[in-house]
Amino acid sequence: MTVVLLSTFLLFLLTTSRIHSEDLNTKYFPENFLFGVASSAYQIEGAWNESGKGESIWDHFTHKHPERVRDRSNADIACDSYHKIKEDVALLKELGVDFYRFSISWSRLLPTGHVNYINPDGIRYYNELIDELVANGIKPMVTLNHWDLPLNLQKLGGWTNYFLVDIFVDFARVAFENFGDRVPYWITFNSGCDVGYGTDQPPGINQSGIAEYLCVHVTLKAHARVYYLYDKEFRKTQKGQIGMTIDGKWYEPKTDAKEDIEAATRAREFLVGWMMHAIYHKDGGYPQVVKDRIAYRSKHETFPISRLPQFTPEEIDYIKGTYDFLGLNIYTTNLVSDREEDPFDEPSYEKDLRIEVTQDPSWPTSNADWLKVVPQGARNLLNWLKDNYGNPPIIITENGYADKGQLDDTGRMNYYQLYLSAVLDAIHDDKVNVIAYTAWSFLDNFEWLDGYTQKFGLHHIDFDDPDRPRTPKQSAKMYKDIISHRRLTVDLKEEL
Ligand SMILES: *[C@@H]1O[C@H](CO)[C@@H](O)[C@H](O)[C@H]1NC(C)=O
Ligand SMILES: *[C@@H]1O[C@H](CO)[C@@H](O)[C@H](O)[C@H]1NC(C)=O
Repeated sequence: MTVVLLSTFLLFLLTTSRIHSEDLNTKYFPENFLFGVASSAYQIEGAWNESGKGESIWDHFTHKHPERVRDRSNADIACDSYHKIKEDVALLKELGVDFYRFSISWSRLLPTGHVNYINPDGIRYYNELIDELVANGIKPMVTLNHWDLPLNLQKLGGWTNYFLVDIFVDFARVAFENFGDRVPYWITFNSGCDVGYGTDQPPGINQSGIAEYLCVHVTLKAHARVYYLYDKEFRKTQKGQIGMTIDGKWYEPKTDAKEDIEAATRAREFLVGWMMHAIYHKDGGYPQVVKDRIAYRSKHETFPISRLPQFTPEEIDYIKGTYDFLGLNIYTTNLVSDREEDPFDEPSYEKDLRIEVTQDPSWPTSNADWLKVVPQGARNLLNWLKDNYGNPPIIITENGYADKGQLDDTGRMNYYQLYLSAVLDAIHDDKVNVIAYTAWSFLDNFEWLDGYTQKFGLHHIDFDDPDRPRTPKQSAKMYKDIISHRRLTVDLKEEL
């Protein structure tokens, strides 16, 4: 036992990179810079079947396949935020955030996914949440679709079905009409085509090399349609902004070899550019290397045309520039090397991409294997976005660190200090147009396939207690300090 404790302690020392006073970044966040925290509906709301809510793909999956969630859990109750509007907003107020990013549960608002029946309780719930935020001086930032598609719509093929574009526009209209007068920031999608359509994560389409590309194609069209809906019918009166959130990592070549540098470029274009290019790049459409690779492999796999759907020139024009800001989720960095061309035996996103991904064993880690602490990678990614996409206004919509949920969360405090320092450098030294930052996450919550084994929250929740009591962690106090001082605030005498 002692040995275990000792080695845990040593591991803790080794994996926590320490901030010393001389490292503290003394720059200030710009005057209009905004700070927030984020959540998503399925991960926190609970009340999965209350007051007329319909079933989402995540409700369905966690009930049908508990064995596929690491601790066999689900989000039937989760943080019970559905019943805790006042309590949650009081915590947000205490943090001093400028905004709160949350998502609308589509199947709470429209139980079947369609607008012929609008659930009055869905309208009530989000109205109350938004009113409470506004009354406390907190701006709502609302994601329309954060993974939890109504099950009914998945049965129609989900984001591989072109008709979802019209159905999504209908849903967005209900949201704008009912809530838009108080919502200054809208995010159409928190993108997730790679996991949901290429792998067995919900909806678990698991048709790699085919389904991801259909999903991206339909998602991009749906995003653009909703942008124009907002732009033409709501912007003038509601005066909000709208964009999409891209899941971004930084991809660094593992060596200086030309092949690895090219592999890292492929990684950026396939894993970030595939969702971004059509909207944010001046040329629109898909990145050239993505088009070339998929066409090349498709041909050798005896497909008559590329597995990547094509946009018409009119569609390219239509989608291009449909944003007010770029939403970016950034957690970590991967090292990329080239790999041999695979046999042309089956369609595969991995084989189209043709890279090996590793991480540097010297990078400090977190409680999630994939999440290594590499603040410089965030700065590199921000610079790459600036250079390739004409320096759009960037809202960092998620950034955070996984541990086991302890209140004394030094690892998370370090992480935020280091990443925010990199963001400050990107803003001041590199002139990247970052306008807002969102910590993931407001609360410990249901972390998708990792269930409750990974905790990202600034607030601890006792998931064994039916009341789900919330307790601010040390990191919440630190974040509050940073927000009120507009700069990093590690006590100079005291190491983290
Ligand atoms: C809602 O789901 C819970 C399980 O999470 C179940 O016990 C309860 O009976 C369900 N309620 C309704 C109205 O279906
Ligand atoms: C997903 O597809 C792969 C490759 O075809 C297969 O090996 C795996 O069993 C599938 N997973 C599920 C859950 O069906």
